[in-house]
Amino acid sequence: MENVELQNSKEQRKGIKVLGLLGSPRRQSNTEILLDSALAGAVDRGAEAEKLLLSEMDISPCKEIYACLETGRCAIQDDMQVIYEKILAADHLIFASPIFFYGITAQAKAMVDRCQALWVKKYILGIGKEDTRIRRGVFISVGATKGNNLFDGAVLTVKYFYDAIGVNYINALLVNKVDTKARIREHPSAISDAFLLGQQLVFPSPLRRCETSSNSG
Ligand SMILES: Cc1cc2nc3c(=O)[nH]c(=O)nc-3n(C[C@H](O)[C@H](O)[C@H](O)COP(=O)(O)O)c2cc1C
Repeated sequence: MENVELQNSKEQRKGIKVLGLLGSPRRQSNTEILLDSALAGAVDRGAEAEKLLLSEMDISPCKEIYACLETGRCAIQDDMQVIYEKILAADHLIFASPIFFYGITAQAKAMVDRCQALWVKKYILGIGKEDTRIRRGVFISVGATKGNNLFDGAVLTVKYFYDAIGVNYINALLVNKVDTKARIREHPSAISDAFLLGQQLVFPSPLRRCETSSNSG
């Protein structure tokens, strides 16, 4: 019975778009491995997945010229113009960044700041307010140390980022004490937790529950 329900719900979820945003500049490393696993979980639940490598894209920092206040569009012509379209088209988002100095990476922050234009467009100019989709977002992060407040700054940034673009922050996978390249592969549960997170993002069902995980051992 459970399998039939799952199959039916997978059919319903065809065409659901999940966008993964990778903030780490280190390819095939801890954050990307977790993001790939989460995207695989989303695909397992019937969604279509796409990953953007922010560090390989041309993203200027926000210049605070507020052209967006006039038109709802950012005046800076770079890869953000494509990213805006993809963020708006996505049903659900997975934002993934390692911790750099208690925050997200510069590459990821540049993208977040540029999304001020999306906030202005929707909440100041009222463009796109008719979009009634319930969009969900999760956050994946990895840090080297074990401080109690390691993820606090990054989580706040991501919560407000999601808020600004009309996405509901639902969960996070935060893994500490992981430093060297791809070391996350030795973690006992993080990769499977990421898979569950991706499944939960698409199909928030009591069939499977995903816990926020922090390797504090
Ligand atoms: C510039 C820089 C700043 C960092 N700052 C922190 C930090 O404040 N706290 C921490 O625990 N780890 C910090 N780290 C370590 C990374 O978070 C850690 O190596 C992580 O596993 C990198 O993930 P990745 O391999 O997916 O890029 C920093 C690393 C770099 C390169």
